[in-house]
This record gives sequence, C-alpha cells and structure tokens, in this order.
Amino acid sequence: MDSVKVFTDADEIAAAAMDYVQKAAKQSIAERGVFNLVLSGGSTPRKLYELLAGQPADWQHWHFFMGDERYVPLDDERSNQKLADETLLSKLSINQDQIHAVPVDQPTAGQAAEAYENQIRQYFNIKNAEVPAFDLILLGMGSDAHTASLFPGKATVQETKKLVVSSEPGVLPPPVDRVTFTLPLINAARRILFMTAGPDKAEAFRAVRRDLEQPPEQAVTPAGKVRPTNGELLWFVDRAAAMIG
Ligand code: 6PG
Repeated sequence: MDSVKVFTDADEIAAAAMDYVQKAAKQSIAERGVFNLVLSGGSTPRKLYELLAGQPADWQHWHFFMGDERYVPLDDERSNQKLADETLLSKLSINQDQIHAVPVDQPTAGQAAEAYENQIRQYFNIKNAEVPAFDLILLGMGSDAHTASLFPGKATVQETKKLVVSSEPGVLPPPVDRVTFTLPLINAARRILFMTAGPDKAEAFRAVRRDLEQPPEQAVTPAGKVRPTNGELLWFVDRAAAMIG
C-alpha cells in the first residue's frame, strides 16, 4: 500500500524515519541476516543520519550504499558520501567493507556508474538480467520533482536495462555530473522511503500526488515514477510540502 504520512516538520520526519529504518533493519536481519540500506543525498537526511548514529543496532549486519552521488572527490563538500560519513558512518563500529561508496575516482562519471553497477552485481552475486532487491532505499525529492539524480526530461529517467547510470547536471545545484540508481533498480526495492520537507517542495509534491493516482507508465515526474514492483512505498512529508495550512 503506497502511503503518504504528514508530519509537523523535518524533525518529526527524521524521528519517524529513524523508527522506520530500525524496524526495517530488524526485520531484514531476522529474515536474511543482513540489512542492505541505500542512503540518500541532499540535506534532508542529515537529521536522520545524526539520530541513527546515536542508536544501538546490530551494525555488523548493515551494509550502506548510495542511491546517487555527485561526481566530485569524496572530500568535496558537495559529496553525498561525505555527508553520510560525517553524520553517520564514521560514528559506527563497522568495517570498511560494509560501506559501498560510488567509485568517484574513476576517470569519468560514466565509468564510475559502470563500476558501481558491477560492484552491486558482484555484491548480490547476480550475473544475468536479474535486478537485486535492496531492503530499504531512502530518497529525497528536489523542487523540480527529481529524485536521486533522475532529472526531469533526461533520458536517464527512461532507462530500463542498466542499474546505475551517469547524468549531466539537472537545473538545480550543484552543477556537476552525477551517478545515480535507475528506476528499475529503485523499484526493485523491498521498501522505499521518501523524506520531503519545506514549502519549496509543495508544487513538486502536488505533481507527484497526481502521478501516484495514475498507473506508473502515465506518471510524468521522476519522483512520481518511483513505484516498487513488490515493495512498500512511503512518503514522509511535512505540512509545508503537503500544503496543509
Ligand atoms: C542529491 C540528492 C537529491 C536530493 C534532492 C532533495 O544528490 O542532491 O540525492 O536527489 O535528495 O535534491 O534534496 P534536499 O533534501 O537537500 O532538499
């Protein structure tokens, strides 16, 4: 059941998201001995990462991936991995092989995307056209209704075969090339959680809600095209983004 939950503000979203992530982790570890979590970039998840870092968990069973990345060095302020490292990963007693960063040291964004897809295929031990199911993918949404680095009007939104692709910048900053999960990989997830807050997201979220009332193939926004094939879709939004007075 796809559902939208409205919270007072970004802090309430982060607290609810922390509970949701912990429950997903417990269930995944109980069922398969591992929790494969895909982190989101942008600024909204910062509070969630800070809260999670302070919680007790079976961290040794968690594996961390990045749903999209800016093609910049890992120590660049614009790096999504840097945000995740500083607010969460550096605070956990985990091994480096539990952290699966986008290989931005590749010569081009395209080669980084190809290398990341190969890393994901090897991690899940898949060789054919099978698409791996992450236990939970966290996503944000831009004010242009992009998600991950799938930007409106770009061919990457229509990709049906590759799991990871590179993208030129969208209209929103930072104006750097990106590496991003594609919709086939996102929609194979067991759980997808969007966290969206702020009045600047209201128009885009309204467009997404219209999309969610349509069959997936008729959705027009990248975020509205996120429809897990067999998983759960949740939108945690604040009152401002939901345009509730
Ligand atoms: C990125 C993100 C992007 C982000 C949205 C929302 O690399 O910027 O992956 O998709 O989630 O742009 O960003 P905010 O949370 O900062 O509003």
